[in-house]
This record gives sequence, structure tokens and C-alpha cells, in this order.
Amino acid sequence: MYRLVCVHCGATYTPDQIIYTCTRCGHLLTVEYDLDGINVSREEWNRRPISVWRYRELLPVRGEPVSLQEGGTPLYHLKKIGEELGLPELYAKHEGMNPTGSFKDRGMTVGVSMACELGMTSVACASTGNTSASLAAYAAKAGIPCVVLLPAGKVALGKVAQALMHGARVISIRGNFDKALEMVHELCISQGLYLLNSVNPYRLEGQKTIGFEAIDQLGEVPDRMVLPVGNAGNISAVYKGLRELESLGFIDRLPMMTGIQAAGSQPLVKAISENLDELIPEPSPETIATAIRIGAPVNAEKALVAVRATGGTAAAVTDQEILAMQRDLARKEGIGVEPASAASVAGIRKLAELGLIDGDERIVCVVTGHLLKDPETVVRQCEPPTEIDADLHSLLSALR
Ligand code: F0G
Repeated sequence: MYRLVCVHCGATYTPDQIIYTCTRCGHLLTVEYDLDGINVSREEWNRRPISVWRYRELLPVRGEPVSLQEGGTPLYHLKKIGEELGLPELYAKHEGMNPTGSFKDRGMTVGVSMACELGMTSVACASTGNTSASLAAYAAKAGIPCVVLLPAGKVALGKVAQALMHGARVISIRGNFDKALEMVHELCISQGLYLLNSVNPYRLEGQKTIGFEAIDQLGEVPDRMVLPVGNAGNISAVYKGLRELESLGFIDRLPMMTGIQAAGSQPLVKAISENLDELIPEPSPETIATAIRIGAPVNAEKALVAVRATGGTAAAVTDQEILAMQRDLARKEGIGVEPASAASVAGIRKLAELGLIDGDERIVCVVTGHLLKDPETVVRQCEPPTEIDADLHSLLSALR
């Protein structure tokens, strides 16, 4: 049993309403469960395979989900990078290992399942890339048409390739992500498509399972969880889920929720450091980490609570710091991630270097998308392959 509740005015809505924001005050909605009515133990969860659906009692879907076997991603111990930073308990949860290569699949399995349960016959999103790749795949699985709006020229190649190959109607707009989101919202409201951006409260329900899995894999609650922030949906989702575990008595404390943004688009960081009640949108966000090139995070209201209520923080990293960490993760730990994903670990490096992290902390950084999402940024950073004649002599001289 659950209902939709406005995070601002508390207005409530029944789950069958097709609604994305509060009709009374325009603020965000959240899914609120009757936690007293939830009858499951952690032991029962632990007997199930690790995946989004291990936690189905805390998800809104009632029927058979539209699933591509999402979740159950690895939690890696970052031994070398952790040692360098004086953080022996540094971990990375590799969300790039999901079916379409990003954490968005956790949201889409739930969001597209709900679209079907609500009787919606088409879906849409705006995207910096990963959301569109994921929605296109889950819409294909569900057999419903999908429209995606992308900021022209600012989406990594792998992500566009996925959206196209999975059969989405792909539209590039001459404007940034924030504008694309505004447009797709209007499209959905006026034309009856189902909106699957992170303003959709059901989608965030799937994403909260990142936190559940991290705790199950670590065997305890980490002291800090670190996430790259774009639209601020994921950090809000993970916090919400952990609050629910706390209310159920499954955990007795929450990690310090820590958001990392790119220096060229850091409205959340500014709001936290200047103690603002609301974010001031960045009109021209810019970063090499195109996934988080977002100036007006839609979920700001939820994210501010997540950071403040847990004694967390927010920090910004430069493009150079992001790329340096992308290379370190790849070369020192064998973990291939896209630039936005390296931002979380780059942020921890920065906070550690500033002396703002206690060396005893157990830290889980969420690395959100796979290396292959953005091959062009990778190739630009690396030496091209050495081309030689096809004989051993040439090979030996090339290796010398
Ligand atoms: N990391 C990656 C790889 C992303 O694709 C995104 C968001 C984020 C981090 C930030 O997550 O928005 O919940 O704060 N990508 C969206 C998209 C905006 O369209 O794919 P957030």
C-alpha cells in the first residue's frame, strides 16, 4: 500500500493518478508506503538474488515487472586509490554494469513497469544520454513507442547509438538539457505520453535500491555515500530508500550523503556552501562530463534535504580532476567508467586532500555509467594504437 505525497505541502494523491508534480503547489511528489504494513525481514531479502527486485516490498510495482535483469552490480574495493588517499575503506559501486550500462536501468525497470500498469501506451524523456538509452531499451522490451529529446551535439556517442538501436524516436534540440526537459514535460502533459525523467516519483523508487545493495554487499551502513549530481534524482532516491530502511528498523544510522558536481555546473554545491534555501540555476552549464551538464536540477528540493539531514556535503571538481580520476580508475583499479561517474571518486580525492574526510570513514562512491558510453572522450585522452607492418621484427621494434 502506498500513495503519492507532495514533499512541500503534503497533499496526497492515489497511485492511479497520472501526475508528476503537485497540482496544488507545483512541488515534487514522493512515494509513501504504509511501512507498518510491510511484512518482510532482511533475512528473507538476503535469500533472494541481489537485484532491484530483491526489495520488491519497497517498490510500487504489483504485477510482473518489465525487466532486463538490472541491479546486482559489483561493489569494488578501491585498494590502490584508497591507499593513496589515506582511505583504506574506499569502495566503488559500479552501476555501469547494468543492462544498458548505467544506473538508469534501476529506475526504468520500475518506471516502465508502472507505465504499463497505469495503461500508458507511449513513453518519453529528455536526456543527457543515459536516460534515453535506458528508456529506449525498456520501452522496446515492453513493446511501447518511445520519444527522447537530447541536447544537440552534447550527448556521448555510445548513448545516442543505444537510443537509436533500441528504436526510440530520437530528437535533438538546439538547446541544453534543462530546455529539453521543460519541452518534454509539456509534450507529455499535452499529448498524454508518460514522462520518465527523474521528476517521475516511481522511477526514483528503482534507483533507491543502489543504497540497499551497497549495505547488503558491505555488510553494514557506509559512513558516507558519494554520488555525481546532475538532476539530483539519484542522490535523493538513495537517501529516501535508506530512510525507509531506518524506519523499518533494518539500519540504525544513515550515511553522510555527498553530492559531487562539475565545476562548470554546480548549483547544488553553491546552495550547500552558501546555505541557501533554494538552488540558483546555472544558465550555461558546461563540462566534459556531459551526463551531468545540468544547470537547473529538478530534484534540488529533495537533494538539499538528503545532504543536510545526514550531515553530508557537496563539492565541485574540475574537468581535469574528473579525467585524471577516470584514468586512475581504469589504470590502477581496472574499472572503466564514463567521466560523470569518475566525478564521485574525484570529489572524494578533493575532499581528502582538503583534509575534510576522516581516514577511518567507510565510503561508497557510486560510479554511475560505463566507460564505453563515451568512447570519444576516452580516445581523445589516450595515445592512438601504434600501426606497424605485419611482421615480428616490426612488432619487436615497436615494443622497444
Ligand atoms: N552519472 C551519470 C552517468 C548520469 O547519466 C547522470 C544523469 C548522473 C550521474 C546524475 O544523476 O541526474 O540523478 O543527479 N543523467 C541523466 C540523463 C540526466 O539524462 O541520462 P542525477
